[in-house]
Amino acid sequence: LQLVGAIIISYLIGSISFSYLIGKLLRKLDIREHGSGNAGATNTLRVMGWTPAIIVLLLDCAKGIAAVVIGYQLTGIPVESGIAAGICGLAAILGHNWPIYFNFRGGKGVATTIGVLATLVFAAALTAGVVAIITIAVTRYVSLGSLLFISGTTLLTAVFTPWLQYPGYYTAFLVIITALSFWKHRDNISRLKSGTESKIGGKSDAKT
Ligand code: G3P
Repeated sequence: LQLVGAIIISYLIGSISFSYLIGKLLRKLDIREHGSGNAGATNTLRVMGWTPAIIVLLLDCAKGIAAVVIGYQLTGIPVESGIAAGICGLAAILGHNWPIYFNFRGGKGVATTIGVLATLVFAAALTAGVVAIITIAVTRYVSLGSLLFISGTTLLTAVFTPWLQYPGYYTAFLVIITALSFWKHRDNISRLKSGTESKIGGKSDAKT
């Protein structure tokens, strides 16, 4: 029962769409009607600039951290607390992508996933994060960096498991999170293939 409560709380926290709230607060706009139409940090950068984007990134990331901590702390099942943490993290990502407060129209879950992965599998996330940041700096494609970060963290979690003693089921969670992210980024992937994906710092806004 505690696990069910923790999952619901994590989903409700994940549903707080900070890009939507900050868009309304600062510019009286619905972020989902501008730029790529995505309720996330990248589109906040595109539409509103760096400072609001960094605030959104940190707050959306904090949702993922909070959910994993709730999973570890609130379920009262110490042996399986890693499973609970993974499930709660996934619930927060689902909340971000399909927020109950905003007609289930949210983002692609990247910032929240960063929070989840950094809390759950720090070393793997840090290593993949460095690769992703370099990729974004060189190509200016945030979507490409996001997908590399999430799939790279999953791969490294599997590789690091024997050394860092990650529970075996972490890899299974991360495969689900990676599949979800690729599916949410399917339009970005098509644009990356056709060379029409918008770059950060560029002028073109991608419509999804
Ligand atoms: O944060 C999501 C990012 O990977 C892509 O966002 O707005 O370019 O579709 P966007």
